[in-house]
Amino acid sequence: MRINACLALAIQYEGREITTIEGVASPLQEAFVVHDGFQCGYCTSGQICSAIGMLAEHGNGVPSAATEHLDADAVELTGAEIRERMSGNLCRCGAHNGIVAAIQEVAGADAVSHVRAEAAR
Ligand code: FES
Repeated sequence: MRINACLALAIQYEGREITTIEGVASPLQEAFVVHDGFQCGYCTSGQICSAIGMLAEHGNGVPSAATEHLDADAVELTGAEIRERMSGNLCRCGAHNGIVAAIQEVAGADAVSHVRAEAAR
C-alpha cells in the first residue's frame, strides 16, 4: 500500500514495514536521470516511491479513474493512466513529462494489467 507521508501520522504505522527512498534500488532512478524526470529534486524521492507502488498496483490489476473499460482483460499503462495514477505527486518544477517517460520506460512490456482478475476478488 502506498501513502503520502505528508498525509500520515507516524503513530498509525507503528510496527509496520515502511520503505522510503533510502531503501530503494530501482531502475526508475536511472530512468528519471535519463528522461530528465527532475530538476530541483525536491519531489523526486516521493515520485519514485509512488511510482514503485503505482506499478505494483497496476500489475495487480487495480484500475484508476482514467481506466476506460473496467471489464477489459487488460489495461495499458498509457500516459493518461500514469498521470492519473501519479496525480497525488506534484512537481513544482514541472518535470511531469520526464517522469511519465521514465515510468513508461521501466514499465515496458509489463505495462498491461489484468483488471478482470482484480475485479473478481
Ligand atoms: S523536481 Fe523540483 S519539485 Fe519536482
